[in-house]
Amino acid sequence: MLKNDLLLRAARGEETERTPVWLMRQAGRILPEYRALRGRLSGFKELVETPELAAEVTIQPVDALDVDAAIIFSDILVVPEAMGLTYEMVEARGPLFPETIKTAQDVARMRVADPEEHLGYVLEAIRVTKRALNGRVPLIGFAGAPWTILAYMVEGHGSKTFSKARRMLYTNPALAHELLDKITRTTITYLQAQVEAGANIVQVFDSWAGILPPDHYREFSARYIAAICDAMPEGVPVTVFAKGAWFAVSDFAHFNCRTIGLDWNEDPRLVRAAIGYDKTLQGNLDPCALYGSREQVQTATIEMLRRFGPQRHIANLGHGVYPDTDPDNVRVFINTVKEFSTLARQGAI
Ligand code: CP3
Repeated sequence: MLKNDLLLRAARGEETERTPVWLMRQAGRILPEYRALRGRLSGFKELVETPELAAEVTIQPVDALDVDAAIIFSDILVVPEAMGLTYEMVEARGPLFPETIKTAQDVARMRVADPEEHLGYVLEAIRVTKRALNGRVPLIGFAGAPWTILAYMVEGHGSKTFSKARRMLYTNPALAHELLDKITRTTITYLQAQVEAGANIVQVFDSWAGILPPDHYREFSARYIAAICDAMPEGVPVTVFAKGAWFAVSDFAHFNCRTIGLDWNEDPRLVRAAIGYDKTLQGNLDPCALYGSREQVQTATIEMLRRFGPQRHIANLGHGVYPDTDPDNVRVFINTVKEFSTLARQGAI
C-alpha cells in the first residue's frame, strides 16, 4: 500500500487534493549527496550496475526534496547494451558507443534481450528500492523510445543533428525498421519486468522526437511507442514524453497511455483545446526558470499551474533539471506547486 499515491491518481484521472510534483533527472548531480557518492566510485556505470547504490540515489531526492515520486536510477542506454552494444559514459562529455550500427550484419548481431538475464541489475535495483521506500511514494520505471535508442546506436554519441541516424531512415528504412522492431521487443519485456519488480508507473522517453519531420515521426517512432503502450499490463499507467514532438500530441491522445509529457515549448492550453481531458498532462516549466530568483521561480511556477489547471496535471519541468541548478530553487518549485495547488483546490485563490 502506498502512503502517497497522488501521482498515480492524477495519472488515472482521479481527483486529487493537490497537484503531484517530481522532476526529471531529480536523482543526480543537483544533489550534493549524489555527487559525494558518485565521487567515490569508478564511474557512472558502477552506480547504475550496483543495485544497493542505485537504490540509494533513487531515494535521495525523496528525502532531500520531498517529491511525490521516485524514478529508478538507471539510464536509457542500458537497453542497447543488453542487446549487444556496450556504452561508455565519458566524464563531462556524455555517452559514447565504441561500436555503432552501420550494416545489416550489425543489426543481425543485436539480440532481443532477456530482462532477467541482461538487465537483472536494474530489476534488482527496483526490488531493493521498493523495500527501502516502504510505500512512501510510487516508483517510476522507464525506458527510451525505440527511435531515441536507435539514434544513439547508429550515431554512437550525442549530436545536435543525429544526421547519421536520420540518414538511415532515408537510405535504408527497412534496416531501420528491423532494428526498431528488435529494440521495441526488448523494451516491452523490459518494462513488463520492471512492473513485475515493483515499478508503479512507467515513462517512455523520446528525447530526440523533435528532430524528425512529422511523417517520419509517425513511421519510425510513434507506432513503436504505441506498441509499447499496448503491451503494458492493465492498470499500470504509461507516460509518453516525446521532447519537441508537439506535432504528435494529437496522435498520443489515441494511445494506450494515461499521461503525455510536455516540454517547455508547448502550451498546455493549446494541447487541451486539441485533445480534450482524456489524458493527464505532465510538465512543463522551463528548466532555466530555476536559475531565477526565489520570487521569479514562484511566479513562473504559479503561471505554469494556471495554464494547466487543477486536475489531470503532474507538475514537472519541461526536460531534465540541469546539474548546476541550486537545489534550494528546486525546493521553491516543489513547495510552490504543493501550496498553490492546495489553495486553488480549496477555492482560496
Ligand atoms: O533522476 C532520473 O531522472 C533518473 C535517472 C536517469 C538518468 N538518465 C541518469 C543519468 C534517467 C531517467 C535518464 C534518462 C536518459 N539518459 C535520457 C532521456 C531523458 C532526457 O534527458 O532526454 C537520455 C537521452 C539519456 C542519455 C544520457 N545519459 C546522456 C545524454 C547523458 C549525459 C548528459 C548528462 O546529463 O550528463 C547521460 C548521463 C546520465 N544519466 C547522468 C545521470 C544522472 C549524468 C552522469 C553522471 O552522474 O556522471
